[in-house]
Amino acid sequence: NMKNENAIIKTDFGNANGKSVDLYSIQFPNELEVQVTNYGGIVTSLKVPDKNGVMEDVVLGYDELQGYLNETPYFGALIGRYGNRIAKGQFELEGETYDLATNNNQNHLHGGIKGFDKVVWEVIEVVDEENRKGLSLKYVSADGEEGYPGELTTIVDYIFTPNSFEITYEATTSKTTVVNLTQHSYFNLSGNASEDILGHELTINASLFLPVDNTLIPTGELRPVRDTPFDFTNPKLIGEDVNATNEQIGFGGGFDHCWVMTEAPTAQIRKVATLSHQQSGRSMEVHTKEPAIQFYSGNFLDGTITGKNEKVYHQRYGLCLETQHLPDSPNQGQFPSTVLKKGETYSTATKYVFSTSN
Ligand code: BGC
Repeated sequence: NMKNENAIIKTDFGNANGKSVDLYSIQFPNELEVQVTNYGGIVTSLKVPDKNGVMEDVVLGYDELQGYLNETPYFGALIGRYGNRIAKGQFELEGETYDLATNNNQNHLHGGIKGFDKVVWEVIEVVDEENRKGLSLKYVSADGEEGYPGELTTIVDYIFTPNSFEITYEATTSKTTVVNLTQHSYFNLSGNASEDILGHELTINASLFLPVDNTLIPTGELRPVRDTPFDFTNPKLIGEDVNATNEQIGFGGGFDHCWVMTEAPTAQIRKVATLSHQQSGRSMEVHTKEPAIQFYSGNFLDGTITGKNEKVYHQRYGLCLETQHLPDSPNQGQFPSTVLKKGETYSTATKYVFSTSN
């Protein structure tokens, strides 16, 4: 039967938090091959062809679950409840002050000590059609988990097609809370992390970015990118300005900033960034409904992590393009709201689209 020829294969990936977790292998032969685990919603491997048709892995990660359990800079993971930073791990909501973990110097990062990247997600559906394959993942976060108010029920759909990775996020809460979900894959289009990402060309369709303080919290200013190293409105090699003499580059140790496309979320998914690597011929577009995108140039990778296939991840061997609402929004009333109330549905979508040219 034609349909089952490339059926999704589920294998045991070990145990986490006292639960067994699985690895799902999804393939469109010679087009896109991916592996995903329900631990942290982690994309562990994503292969696409180069200009000679050679399938190679374009994301960083570990060979085994143990790597993700030990310590990981969020390789491939689903991030929640709040992607990016909240200043001093504190915010006020409806007259109450909430205290979150300060797991990034004095700030809160990526949902806390045990964020959505470190929990076991329930696989509520496996989609296995000819050109649409993937998983529907569900996690119910208890009221007060990691300090956040409200029981939050999150459903994330990961759908793969022969040339894309499409993510749909939905969440509902039992009490007013804040939510900002994202995906934290580290990309390196050279394939199998064979070199740093400085030779990748990047376009970001945003005319504004958020300057930060030296702890990477936005100052509140929306600054034009024009005439700064942050101008990616036309394709530019990442290496061109990554070490520019610039206070903001200094704070980030390179690019680790949020670009703002619109000052409000949109109902439309639209292209916001394009990444390409000339030598391999691989390109990737990022489309999203979110108002902003964090571009992190892998500055904190320092050669202490050995990832898949014995590859050492040196500085800037991977980059993240994390679609999201603006960092620290719970403390910055002028930013688009990240508040979710009981009875409302948080709903957003992002897709990464791959192509190859000569
Ligand atoms: C942040 C970086 C951080 C990394 C986690 C990114 O989203 O912007 O500052 O180091 O995640 O490892």
